[in-house]
This record gives sequence, C-alpha cells and structure tokens, in this order.
Amino acid sequence: MRSSLLALAAALGASLVASVIAAPSITYVRHEKRNSLPFGWKTDKKISGHEVLPMRVALSQSNLDKAEEYLMEVSHPDSPKFGQHWTAKQVAEAFAPKQESVDAVTEWLRNSGIAPERISKSQSMGWLQFDATVAEAEGLLKTKYYLHRHKVTRKPHVACNEYHIPDHLSAHVDFITPTVHFDAKIPQAALLKRDIEERYVEERAPKTTLSTAAAGVPVQTKAAVKVVTNPNNGYHPKKGSDINIHSIADELTNCNVHITPDCLRALYLFPPNFIANPKNSFGIVEYTPEAYLQGDLDLFFANFSKNQVQKTPITDLADGAVVQTTTQGFAYNGESDLDLEYAMALVNPQEVTLYQVGDEVEGASFNTFLDSIDGSYCTAAGGDDPTQDPTYPDPFPGGYTGPENCGGFAATKVISTSYGYNEADLTAAYERRQCNEYMKLGLQGTTILYSSGDNGVAGNGGQCIGVNGTYNNGTSGMFNPGFPSTCPYVTSVGATQIKPGASVTAPEEACETVIFSGGGFSNVFPLPSYQATAVKSFFANNPPPYTAAQYNNTQKSRGFPDIAANGANYVVAIDGAFTLVYGTSASSPVVGSILTLVNEARLTIGKSSIGFINPTLYANPGILNDITSGGNQGCGTPGFTAVKGWDPVTGLGTPNFPKLVAKFLSLP
Ligand SMILES: *[C@@H]1O[C@H](CO)[C@@H](O)[C@H](O)[C@H]1NC(C)=O
Ligand SMILES: *[C@@H]1O[C@H](CO)[C@@H](O)[C@H](O)[C@H]1NC(C)=O
Ligand SMILES: *[C@@H]1O[C@H](CO)[C@@H](O)[C@H](O)[C@H]1NC(C)=O
Ligand SMILES: *[C@@H]1O[C@H](CO)[C@@H](O)[C@H](O)[C@H]1NC(C)=O
Repeated sequence: MRSSLLALAAALGASLVASVIAAPSITYVRHEKRNSLPFGWKTDKKISGHEVLPMRVALSQSNLDKAEEYLMEVSHPDSPKFGQHWTAKQVAEAFAPKQESVDAVTEWLRNSGIAPERISKSQSMGWLQFDATVAEAEGLLKTKYYLHRHKVTRKPHVACNEYHIPDHLSAHVDFITPTVHFDAKIPQAALLKRDIEERYVEERAPKTTLSTAAAGVPVQTKAAVKVVTNPNNGYHPKKGSDINIHSIADELTNCNVHITPDCLRALYLFPPNFIANPKNSFGIVEYTPEAYLQGDLDLFFANFSKNQVQKTPITDLADGAVVQTTTQGFAYNGESDLDLEYAMALVNPQEVTLYQVGDEVEGASFNTFLDSIDGSYCTAAGGDDPTQDPTYPDPFPGGYTGPENCGGFAATKVISTSYGYNEADLTAAYERRQCNEYMKLGLQGTTILYSSGDNGVAGNGGQCIGVNGTYNNGTSGMFNPGFPSTCPYVTSVGATQIKPGASVTAPEEACETVIFSGGGFSNVFPLPSYQATAVKSFFANNPPPYTAAQYNNTQKSRGFPDIAANGANYVVAIDGAFTLVYGTSASSPVVGSILTLVNEARLTIGKSSIGFINPTLYANPGILNDITSGGNQGCGTPGFTAVKGWDPVTGLGTPNFPKLVAKFLSLP
C-alpha cells in the first residue's frame, strides 16, 4: 500500500504548481486556505507548541459523484421512480467513506509519528480523531497555529490560515479541524453587524482567559456569557410598527398593509385545512435562545384561528434545548412566534413539530440540528468539530451535561429554517459536507426550506465583500450570497409583497418594504442540472449590468432563491401585542405550510411525500405565479431585477396551490 501511494505521489509531483511544499518523500499540497479572518476576529498571538489540539479528519464520502443522479431518480417528475425514497440505512451505506480512505489516512498519520493506538474512528467511519500537540499538528499539516480573539465576546479561538496534506490524500479527506475554520454557531454569528459590535466592545466586553489545555480538552474555551441574538442582523425578521388589532376590520381588503392567514390563503389559493394525515408532518427549527411564548400563540389564535387557543407544537428538544421564557423581547421571541403562529394556523389541524436546538450556554449550529435527525451524520461518536460546532456534553458551567442527540428525532416531511449564514462565513469544504446532508434528507423524502436572507444581494447585516476579501459596510463591494440557500439540494425561499395599494388578487412584486429578498449566485456550488435551462434563459434575456467584480457571473454557479412568498406586513403576536413583521423569515414557513398541504393530498391517496421539489418546480414553472417586477438592492447597486421566468430575486415565483397540488398528485 505504502509504496504504491508514494509512487503515485511521485508521478503526480511533476504537474503540481505554486502551493507545493517540498518534503523528502511525499508531495504536500494546500488543502484549505482562508483569505482573511471573519469579521470581528483578530489575531492575538502564536500558540505554544505544547498545547494539545483535538484533531479531527473528515473523510470523503463515497459515491458523491452519483449523488445528483440518485436524487433526480426519486425527485425528477419524469423519473419512473419518483417518490421511491430511500431508507436511512440505504443512505448511510451508499455514502459511507471507503475503508481505503481510512487506511490511507491512518498510514500517513503513522508515518508522521501518530501511532494507530492514538487514533479512533466514528461509527459511521466518517471521522478519524486523535489528540496532537500544536507542534505535532504543525508538522503534520505544514502550518502555524495562532490564537485569535473575538473583539466582542473576547472568546479565544485557535486556527491556522492554511494547511497542507499529502497530495495522494486529497481525494480521501474533506477537511481537517481545528484548522482554518471559524465558529458556525448561530447566536455568535449574529454579532457580525459592525455598529452593534462596536457598542458591545465599548460597554460590555466580558473578559475570559484561555484555559490550559489538557489532553482531549479543546484548547479554546468559550466566554461564559450568553451571546444575544441581535434584532438588527440578518437572521431575524424585522420589526415594524405595533398595531391595534381592532383596526383590521375587513382582512381581505387590507392585505396590502396587513398580512394575516386569510390573506395568504387568498394570495396562494389554498383552503383552510381540515384533515391531519398521521403520516404527514411539518417541522420548524429554532435556535436557543430564540423561543416562542404560549401566550403569544394564544393571542394570535384567539384572533385568527379560534379553535387553536392553547394548542402547543410537538416539541423536540435537542441537546439541552429549552424554550426559555426568562428573557423576552422581539430579538428572542420574534422569529419563533412568527414561524409557529403562521405554520400552526395554516396547517391546522395538522400538528407542527418544533425542533428547538442547543442549550443556553453553547447554542447550536445547523450541524447540531442535522445530527439530531441523522445518527449517521452525527459526529459525536467520532468527534464533533469543536471549533465550529458546539460540543455536547457541554463542558461549560450551566450547560447541558447529557450526550449529544444523535439521530434521536425523526425528520418531518417538510422542514423550514429561517436562519442563515453568509456563504463566505464558512469554508467551502464545510459547506459541501453540510449540503450533501441536505441531499441525503431529500433522498429520504424530506423537503428542506431555507429563507434566502433579507438584505438583497448583500449579506447578513447588509455587509458586502471588499477587495481584500473581508466584509465591508455594504455600500460597495462584491455581492454576499447566503448559505445554505446556495446549496443546490435545498429549496431557497425569497420574499414578495402586494404592490402598494393593490388588492390581494393582483400580481405581487419582489419585496421592497423594510427588507429585500436575498438572491444571487453561489461562489461555491456549481449550477445544478435541474436549474440549467432557467439560469441560461435568465442570462440570455436579461443580462445583469454587473461584472465579475460584483458577482459570480460565470453562468455556471447555483442561483437562488427557487421560490418566493409574501414577506411584508405580517401581523404577529409578540410579547403580548400585535406587531408588523417583515422578512423571508415569514416566507419560508408559509411555503412550508403550503407544501405540507400538498403532502397531505398525496399521503391521503397512499402516495409518498413530495421530498426534494426543485426538479419538479423547474420542469413546471407554470405551477408558480411568476413575479416580474421589483429588485433586491444591496452593495450600493439596485441588485438584480425580477423578470419573466426565473430570476435571482424571487426565483420561479410564488405558490399557486391548485396548480401545485394537481401537478404533484399527477406524479407517481
Ligand atoms: C385579539 O387581540 C386583542 C389584543 O390586541 C385582544 O384584546 C382580543 O381579546 C383578541 N380577540 C379575541 C377574540 O380574543
Ligand atoms: C480590508 O479592507 C478594509 C477596508 O479597506 C480594511 O478596513 C481592513 O483592515 C482590511 N483588512 C485586511 C485584513 O487587510
Ligand atoms: C462605508 O465605507 C465606505 C468605503 O470605505 C465609506 O466611504 C462610507 O463612508 C462608509 N459608510 C458608512 C455609512 O459608514
Ligand atoms: C464561480 O462559481 C463557480 C461554480 O460555483 C466556482 O467554481 C468558481 O470558483 C466561482 N468563482 C469565483 C470567483 O468565486
């Protein structure tokens, strides 16, 4: 084995370029690199060679080259196998890393002085883990480690700027941690917004010190402070004025100023639901400390869905999650109240499952949630990535002390999440791995929806990407697409609005009130086959007036969003009063509710759930209401414009329920 790998490395050596570092017998190539620190971080100092790092090697999964083909087989409307979804076991087996990858990496580590006894592997074979001193890790990866510190939370974080692995291992390794990656937890990412940050730095900066690392304990420690999700950042709906509910006399004539459940039914032509198929399910994901208040749900139901007063969602609490009530305010209750009030009212009497993720100390990332519904994705057995994902049991005071939830919850048929990152917050390898997990959920018949963002072509907090690759204040620079919306295996949901003064039956336009629909083109994910025709005709008929200086204009990258729904003027009960709310945060649960009703229709006649819907939508754009006006400004530009056909503002358009349900009922 060893000699053949070395021969291969030697054979490839001649054709390798710039970033190669010479080694006596093995050729190293750069595996990942970060151009600049994420916003809010600064480099503190070089870290001592004696500190111990919990190293994790994410192994490449097999058969990923066939992933799109597998997914199309069960989700393309022309496929005779449409709807024949896979079991979790079939999925785990199809993509498990090859023994060959485990062997090749173990061999490299052994030759580098990491004895096999020090290495353990996860049950799914997805990860190899071992503890190494900083000096060992630096030798292994031909890199230098630094201690970085967050300017707001003072939280320390160990990372390098780039790292290398032997060339012959490139195909066997997704990525290694801790290396270039930064925090992926939802609440911390919320602090990106500069003005808020500076205020916090001045007034609140809590001090933490780096704990001395013992073997197996992460070098980094976390600030013992709850990092508050901020109301002004892109992860949350935006608050409008408070309203007097008694002023909403005739709902349907005022939908242009007040959106209520009946307005949505009128817009997208779906009836109040009246059945609840036991096989059907709709999941809403929330990240602690975001929480709903039962009093708010009841106030909303009393006014808009009378028979649901005192109705609670089915609640799956992952990893010490709490639906906390101690800290209230729009920043804590706005998202959860909005999502649950509308989802529960629209699919009633169908139950809604709330996946509440993360404890109050660690918080959670999307991976924490994915772990809880897929044991084979779960990294706890072989090593969570402690630099990016929260670690459970939580090592910090007051945290959750139980084991991480690995596949403890069933995935619902539709899952809607109204949170998101900038694609540039995370590394491409990390995003690809998570994106592949959405592909696996699609194979199993689950529809994954993410809101597309509220800042048009700009990113969370309205930031864009400056010439040196760092985020700027959003008045110029490159567009800043959102993730997971750019993952081709999710359905990304943008926002529309009723035109000012127009009736509920008139065509909508792209949302330009308070928020602008997130949209654009990925810098990471290639154009998926199901979207190729739509994107090609968008560029042919409506070439955007921008260059590669603004966005990925190769016409070969994934465009988003896919679909849209109203995102303006929602009447929501929050903290005991009715308030107007804006955001793709509203659009996603509404689309999820409508798709849940489509599932109800299919399940009732014995058919499967709809699963991954994008291939059907793009092959049948007529089942959506095309949106042809409005734009998504940002980065000092008017952004893209909604046009006839697909566009990177409102996707293919808004749901037309009768047409959607007829199409999906016609499929096998
Ligand atoms: C509707 O909401 C208002 C609060 O704005 C509340 O006073 C009223 O009781 C609610 N209506 C019903 C029927 O409960
Ligand atoms: C990048 O450019 C911005 C604005 O020009 C500047 O504030 C920032 O310090 C630069 N960052 C780096 C890492 O060079
Ligand atoms: C944003 O940054 C640009 C370029 O650095 C600067 O000219 C502008 O004044 C800034 N605007 C705000 C509102 O900070
Ligand atoms: C543009 O997108 C393609 C495909 O997603 C990617 O390979 C390429 O690197 C991107 N270009 C830039 C400049 O990010």
